[in-house]
Amino acid sequence: MVAWMTPGTVENPVDFGFRTVSMANKPRLVRALFDDVAARYDLMNDLMSVGVHRLWKAAMIDWLAPRAPARFLDVAGGTGDVAFRILERLSAAGPNAADDAAVTLVDASEAMLGTGRDRALDAGIARGLDWVRGDAEDLPIDDGSIDYYTIAFGIRNVARIDRTLEEAFRVLKPGGRFLCLEFSHVLLPALGIAYDAYSFRVLPALGEIVTGNREAYRYLAESIRRFPDQRTFAAMIGDAGLAQIKVRNLSGGIAALHSAWRI
Ligand SMILES: C[S@@+](CC[C@H](N)C(=O)[O-])C[C@H]1O[C@@H](n2cnc3c(N)ncnc32)[C@H](O)[C@@H]1O
Repeated sequence: MVAWMTPGTVENPVDFGFRTVSMANKPRLVRALFDDVAARYDLMNDLMSVGVHRLWKAAMIDWLAPRAPARFLDVAGGTGDVAFRILERLSAAGPNAADDAAVTLVDASEAMLGTGRDRALDAGIARGLDWVRGDAEDLPIDDGSIDYYTIAFGIRNVARIDRTLEEAFRVLKPGGRFLCLEFSHVLLPALGIAYDAYSFRVLPALGEIVTGNREAYRYLAESIRRFPDQRTFAAMIGDAGLAQIKVRNLSGGIAALHSAWRI
């Protein structure tokens, strides 16, 4: 069966970049894409953002201000960048400060999880981090059990953003924190023109050289354009029941942080 078709021929159509696929098919397509690029994913992140994704993730952890004892859930956690940073930040408070933290990383791609586990071994991170294969739309996590829910560059890839946000609400404890880092909409038109040229010309070519998968990085550029703008996404977070929503733009809106709480 063809993976994508024109709207109208697809049951429950959703975006897959600029294409339309059935809601049932999207998770498989996304998983296959990340399985394929997993081994070169981190290198490609550094190259395509010239390291800037590290600054965005640092800004995320600064705003999260994690404290233990607590239970952390990093959804679509991939190769572990955010989870490692949470543990690192906790450890900075003292030699045993991370001992009371339980960090669970959930991701749909076994290959991304495998690359992440190898990174953890290389970095000597043996404790405090649980790697779980699972779906952001149907988390294998108990109701009201999480103090901090994070998701970085993950929610753009799910089939149903609203369902993913409802799951975030479900698993958070009352008083728990939601923090999402995602590509967003640039605020300056001049920046937008340069960014478009970079995204649609340079990125797929670089993706092909580094990962051998041009389509994956074309999908990246397209999926960013399809993702709701800052204000719309904030409203969706509110619709899921989360409160005190705040937005911080990063690099002129190329990325944004959305913070909220379960009250
Ligand atoms: C762009 S990567 C982000 C990885 C990591 N959070 C980071 O910032 O480097 C997106 C990740 O989302 C995962 N993903 C996509 N759809 C998912 C879903 N429905 N449930 C869980 N993980 C998903 C992919 O497997 C991939 O590892």
